[in-house]
Parts: sequence; structure tokens; C-alpha cells
Amino acid sequence: MAEAERARATRAKELASLQASGKGRSSSPAPSAAKGEDRVRKTLASPSPPARAAAKVAPAPAKTVASARRRAGAAPLAAKTVATAPSTSYALLGSPFPLRPLTARRTVRKEAVKGRVWTFDQPQGLGFSKVTVNTRMTVVRLKSGGLWVHAPVAPTGECLALLAELGGEVECVVLPTFAIEHKVFFGPFARRFPRASVWVAPRQWSFPLDLPLSLLGLGFRDVFELDDDLSIAQCPWRAEVDFAVNLQEGFSEIGPYCEVGFFHRDTKTLLVTDCVVQVPRDPSSLGCLDPEELVSNAAPQALNPFSPTPPDSPAARLLGWQRTVLQVLFFGPGDLNEPAATFDALCEPRVILSPVVRTLVFSKCAEGVARWVDTVCAWDFDKVIPCHLAGPFSCGPDEFRRAFSGIYAAAGRTTPAKGTGPFGLGPPKETAPPLDFDRDLPADMRILNGLNGFLVAVGAVDDPSKKK
Ligand SMILES: [Fe+2]
Repeated sequence: MAEAERARATRAKELASLQASGKGRSSSPAPSAAKGEDRVRKTLASPSPPARAAAKVAPAPAKTVASARRRAGAAPLAAKTVATAPSTSYALLGSPFPLRPLTARRTVRKEAVKGRVWTFDQPQGLGFSKVTVNTRMTVVRLKSGGLWVHAPVAPTGECLALLAELGGEVECVVLPTFAIEHKVFFGPFARRFPRASVWVAPRQWSFPLDLPLSLLGLGFRDVFELDDDLSIAQCPWRAEVDFAVNLQEGFSEIGPYCEVGFFHRDTKTLLVTDCVVQVPRDPSSLGCLDPEELVSNAAPQALNPFSPTPPDSPAARLLGWQRTVLQVLFFGPGDLNEPAATFDALCEPRVILSPVVRTLVFSKCAEGVARWVDTVCAWDFDKVIPCHLAGPFSCGPDEFRRAFSGIYAAAGRTTPAKGTGPFGLGPPKETAPPLDFDRDLPADMRILNGLNGFLVAVGAVDDPSKKK
């Protein structure tokens, strides 16, 4: 092993040991020390004992870790798409309902932008269904050398080791949404990094019991709400990673919708959670999905539990993947036995708005969502990393906005598009018309529209047509 690699491996082991034991030093001052603290809303005011102890220790300068790596002559880390054996140390802990896989959860790390951005994908399925997709955490290296963590996944030993290999302290942990599948491991992950500052999308709630975050694993440490009005002084990392809050309330009796979009300026990367996705044709490109699970969803009769599982083959894996994607996106497509046509209509390079989010949420608050998209599209991003399916994928503001063209139409607006000429003038780029789910895939929308109709009928959500 080369000298540089030995030094890096030693450093990674030290960091893993420190972070697993909660002794890792934060490299940034606690946000509560920032000027104008009163404008930062805390959801939990009392600092935890570790946080109180941490406050008495002068934090190490942020450059310490990065400088150490440079002194050690650490070579740039290569992309790692296949990790070590999946960790079995994380099973049912941290989840209020069964999430598969129950006994082993593989983590696959990829370098999205050399030396600056990494994705960590894990498989995740609900209950005892045959549907498993990837859920993704993204890690950004700040200029300080520290790490900024978006939408944490299960903190398995394997996941923490892959994170520690990057070097640098975890400075911030961010929950970008109210959605339970991303919240469920947020507390357990954040507990591994007691010196990191913790930020969450505003107006968190849970259903059927509206549990406080402290009961979702965060204990009594400081938790800060993301707010569009926060200044750099109040939220220092915002100088590098800007954000825009998509908070939509008032249309639902259950709770508000919230997803926060983030823009890492240096790498022109947009981070979102669930609103848009890109469907990869090849599930193996995600790296973390178990082929056996895919094949288990490829029985000749999809809805017959006694239909035998076929032998493993590329065709069986593809069929299982097509069904999985459509079950996730539509809850149940028009024809689960023959999903290829719908799958092809949705596939890459299309960037699509999530049909579930679009139907159950955005259709009811189109004006507010369009305003959020306007804010996001003022950023000069060239790639998007969502929390599911493909990512990163190439996408700029025009393409992102086009995915929301139905929402703009519902808001009574056209979708603005830059021209292809100098200064954005001239004719807009010729592209295929965006997918209109109700027009183009009516049979696949039947279940979602039925669920939406039920929620409106029982008064759980507003019918926007009644407002007109
Ligand atoms: Fe999600």
C-alpha cells in the first residue's frame, strides 16, 4: 500500500472511532452563537448534555482536519460504488413501522463531484411488499473541510465507515422534508454526531400521532428550523449551500407539506427530496438494490401471491424493476403485468414530477409551488440530486421548470423558458412536450386520482376547484 493510502486509512480509522463514540470535534461554532440568534427558531430549546459539554470546549479550527489530510499527502478518493459487506448491525431500530431490509442494509457511496459531493444510497422498502427502491443521503464538503449532510440514511457501521473515509468532521446534519421515510433515520444518525448542528424543514409533524422530534430520536439537543429569511450570520453554511423552503399549508387537515431545496454554489448542484425524479433504465446503476428482490417482483401474474417467482435473468430483473418503479410512482399502474410502455414513457432522460406529490399535494397549492420553483430556478444549477432513483442527473433550471409545467398551468401561468440566443433571447430550445400524467397515462393515474378523490370527499384535503 502506498504511503499516502496508509496515512489516509489510518486517519479514516481514527475518525470512525471518534465519530462512533461521539467524541468527534465539531469544526464550526454552534449556530446558537451566531449573531441575531433570536431569528433562528429552535424546535427544542434545551441543549443535550453532550452539547453543553461541547460548548465548554473551544472548537478546533475548521481547517485542522483538511490540513492534516493535505499534510499526509492523501490522494483524491476514488469513486466507490461497491462497498464492503452490508451491515447487519441495523435492523428495526429507529423505525415506527417495518422498513425493509430488516436484517442487512447495504450502503453504496459514489463520488458525484470530485472531492466535493458524495451520494450514499441504501435500499428501502415498506413492510412486506415487494417494492424496494433506493433512498439517498448526500454529503457536501464545505470550504472549511467539514461535511454537510443532507437527508441522512441509516447510520450502519458500513455507512459510518464510508463517511469517515472521506475525512473531515460532520458539521451539519439537515432534514429537508416532513416525509417519514427520510425522517426515520434522522435522529439515530444525528446522535452519532453530537457536535454537529442540526437543521430541519419547518413545521414538522407526524401521522397518525403527531410526535415531537425528541421522540423521533433527537433527544433534547438544539434543533434549528430552516427559514428563507435566515441570514448568513444566523446560518453560516448558507454562504455555500443556499436553500428555498417549499412550505404549503392550509390545504390539508392532516398537516402541511414541506420540502426544502438546496443549492451548492461551488458545484452547481441542486438537492431536492421527492418532488422530481429521473427513472434509470438499469437498476444496477443504483448499486444498492438486491437483484433477488427485483426478480421476486417479476412473477408472471403480478397480483397473484401464488404466482411462482421466475428464475433470475436480465429480463426478470428488468420486469421486476419496471413494476417496482410504477408501484412507487403511481401506487399501482394501469397494467402491472405489462408495465413496459408506461415505464418507457417515464424513463431517463426525462425529468419528471413525482405523480404522487403532484396529485395529492401540488395540484392543491399550485401558485405557491410555482413561486418556489421560480426561486429555485434563479440558481444556476446544472445537475440535480434527489433522494430516490437516479442522481445526480444533468438538469438545469429550464428543464427543472418544465417538469412543473402542469403546476404552472394550474396556477394560470405559462412556463417561462430562456431563449437559446445570447442573454437568453431568441427561440427556446426545442424539447419534447412535458408529460401530462392525466392526458398521457390516464389508466396509470386511476389509483392516485381515486385516492385523491377519497381524501377530498372526507375533507382531509381541499378541492381546489371549490375555490374558483
Ligand atoms: Fe422520499
